[in-house]
Amino acid sequence: MPQADIGLIGLAVMGQNLVLNMNDHGFTVAVFNRTVSKVDDFLNGGAAGTNIIGTHSVEEFVGALKRPRRVMLLVKAGQAVDDFIEKVIPHLEDGDIIIDGGNSNYNDTIRRCKYVESKGLLYIGTGVSGGEEGARHGPSIMPGGSPAAWEHVKPIFQAVAAKADGEPCCDWVGENGAGHYVKMTHNGIEYGDMQLICEAYSLMKAVGMTPGEMSEVLAEWNKGELDSYLIEITRDILAARDPETGQAMVDVILDTAGQKGTGKWTGISALDMGIPLTLIGEAVFARCLSALKDERVAASEKLRGPKRTFKGDRAKFVEDVRAALYASKIISYAQGFMLLRAAAAEYGWNLNYGGIALMWRGGCIIRSQFLGRIKDAYSKKKEPTNLLLVPYFRSAVRKAQAAWRRVVIQAVRLGVPVPAFSSALAFYDAYRSERLPANLLQAQRDYFGAHTYERVDKPRGEFFHTNWTGTGGDTTASTYTA
Ligand code: 6PG
Repeated sequence: MPQADIGLIGLAVMGQNLVLNMNDHGFTVAVFNRTVSKVDDFLNGGAAGTNIIGTHSVEEFVGALKRPRRVMLLVKAGQAVDDFIEKVIPHLEDGDIIIDGGNSNYNDTIRRCKYVESKGLLYIGTGVSGGEEGARHGPSIMPGGSPAAWEHVKPIFQAVAAKADGEPCCDWVGENGAGHYVKMTHNGIEYGDMQLICEAYSLMKAVGMTPGEMSEVLAEWNKGELDSYLIEITRDILAARDPETGQAMVDVILDTAGQKGTGKWTGISALDMGIPLTLIGEAVFARCLSALKDERVAASEKLRGPKRTFKGDRAKFVEDVRAALYASKIISYAQGFMLLRAAAAEYGWNLNYGGIALMWRGGCIIRSQFLGRIKDAYSKKKEPTNLLLVPYFRSAVRKAQAAWRRVVIQAVRLGVPVPAFSSALAFYDAYRSERLPANLLQAQRDYFGAHTYERVDKPRGEFFHTNWTGTGGDTTASTYTA
């Protein structure tokens, strides 16, 4: 007699913790793992004394599940997901559900959803954020896929998810790849938030502060509008000491950043759709640049910059940095939601932006007070076209603006790279410009390639070409589009 409410394949750290979390909430979970010995290790270890059912083959695993069967995969994104889908499909029946909870690329999820549905089954691709701790005690869960599957997983997912202001940080996102798209965007924003904090660290370092002093500053920042998980953990990281050398832990860590690709995917999607997601793009490139360690070390011997001597008031500067970080963060989220809007139009998803902000409000890596403000902004009757135009954010940026400019100027003077702070400011200045130099750009395109231009004194959609040199022809190349 099948007993399990849900089954989970993949007993790595996230899988084990999510299963224990489900068990705590009264659900019976069957588990399976490719390396079968891990199942017994888990049952005799972390899962000892629970109702978790260990299984040793796909047949046994599927046989343990109540109908409709809910098979959740928490395996490495990529081929392993396709392999397990192939392995379980022959054992499933109409209406059963396959759930992929890994960091899969949304394009793969769109493809898999279509394929699994063609077999009479239902599919969910869901983001699960919050790391080990989140999986165990309440992650943020962002499911999308076959709409008919939602009612069957909703009670489980919403029970185990984090709660923010009493509401679960989990709701239906949309069809096919929508859940994984939203998780990818979450990760892109995570890259941006982390880069902004790193730039603040770099500036404080440049004006002579120790990691311990910076930790105290972050503790203060965490009491105000920057209150967030990432500021909190950075406060603790900066206070930590290396047991081997006694130095600040942060000082003994090599300065080359790793990445698994979700930030890059976010940037690629933005480029594909023509969305100026500049801050996240800079955050990805900053990681790439950091990885060129040997080249940088060699260049540091040859390429000279200004002396890093700071003469101003340090406390005032630190307050300016806080304001600059906040303003830049607003730009990053405004860009992130611009991307989501474009994706909704491109893929036909009916995204609930307030719901997404709530899903990110607790449990996940980017959780913060700030997301509560975004949720409020999208809960108003009239949906804002851009977060920057919402009175709360407009006024926050207005208040921070002078400090933000001072910080970018100071960074340029000191020769400290602040790609995220400065690109955010450049975006702000461009977005609020009625007229940009693209008129000249259009002239250049028309000059060398007869790409045509529109005129300020003629209706939009009418294209003109000038014979700039008198020697070119009158034929245009106006069929070119991006
Ligand atoms: C989360 C995280 C997680 C991600 C890591 C590593 O939401 O819990 O986003 O899914 O895998 O943050 O990402 P990088 O290795 O690319 O930094």
